[in-house]
Amino acid sequence: MAEIIEQIGPLKEAALKDFAAAGDLAALDRAKAAHLGSHGRFTALLKQLGQLPKEQRPAAGKAINQAKAELEAALAARRQELEDAALRPKEPVDFTAPGRRRRLGHWHPLTQVTEDIVRSFRKLGFAVADGPEIEDDYHCFDALNTPADHPARDTQDTFYLPTEPRLLLRTHTSSVQIRVMKQQPPPVRIIVPGRVYRRDTADATHNPTFHQVEGLYVDRGVTVGDLKGTVEFVFRELMGPKTRIRFRPHYFSYTEPSFEIDFSSPLTRQMGKEWLEIAGCGMVHPQVFENVGYDPEVWTGWAFGFGIERIAMIRYGIHDIRLFYQNDVRFLRQF
Ligand code: DAH
Repeated sequence: MAEIIEQIGPLKEAALKDFAAAGDLAALDRAKAAHLGSHGRFTALLKQLGQLPKEQRPAAGKAINQAKAELEAALAARRQELEDAALRPKEPVDFTAPGRRRRLGHWHPLTQVTEDIVRSFRKLGFAVADGPEIEDDYHCFDALNTPADHPARDTQDTFYLPTEPRLLLRTHTSSVQIRVMKQQPPPVRIIVPGRVYRRDTADATHNPTFHQVEGLYVDRGVTVGDLKGTVEFVFRELMGPKTRIRFRPHYFSYTEPSFEIDFSSPLTRQMGKEWLEIAGCGMVHPQVFENVGYDPEVWTGWAFGFGIERIAMIRYGIHDIRLFYQNDVRFLRQF
């Protein structure tokens, strides 16, 4: 009797140690078999009970069963631990890895349109430039010759941050014109796709954040003809070869002369219009060149800006801008 009871402790400890050391479920099963299986060491102990004198059996049996219950609890706990660990990814998940399902997903329609725009301008030698979405008054307005009383600077139209000096969410990608020209000498040939912000209430055609593409071309002897030719080339690529464009006089403080661009195509007719306004543009104002340190007597250039959502909406016949941001896969799958 005494010997059997003395064996319980060490056998239990050995089993607990093996359970804890099991690194996966298969190892745990092996450890379980070695200790608690029909030929296991602990089971062998149970079998010895029969050799004890009758009056000693209840006490010994109780001790063994207690230990066995402890072992089974430890086993279950370890099994749970290992199962949890197996579900937990060991490496950070790589969301760009190809999926196992057939539907692999695709770019968002706005990204697709942006890529198409970039591809067209690349054919003409334009490079993609980038700038911050959190801007200052200088790059967003002052350097663009935008007067202090211009409505774009109103707190009703712009998201200002409570910072000192004051920062804001850029209202247009034109701010990147300034950053690029301050950073490099002419000639410049860039486009700037990016996100912009305005204090608009969301409705079918407005959203407080949307996307623009800015273009800037500076060289010697650049003309409105270059601007028109470039815009026509790109819009025909984007909206089909039957696309026509026209320029209407307009006002922007950073261009002189300034224009609004309308275009006409089978797509605009589908929307019930012959001409749709699509972009603003003009010849870079000499004062803007002065502001960035370019000599306006030597350099001329043009700039334009248009909304990417608007292009996508016309191209795909989408009537509500908010669909782009809701991430409803039933909508997104169609592109
Ligand atoms: N920044 C203007 C807007 O957000 C668009 C624009 C007009 C950009 C004329 C230009 C430009 O570069 O020359 O409505």
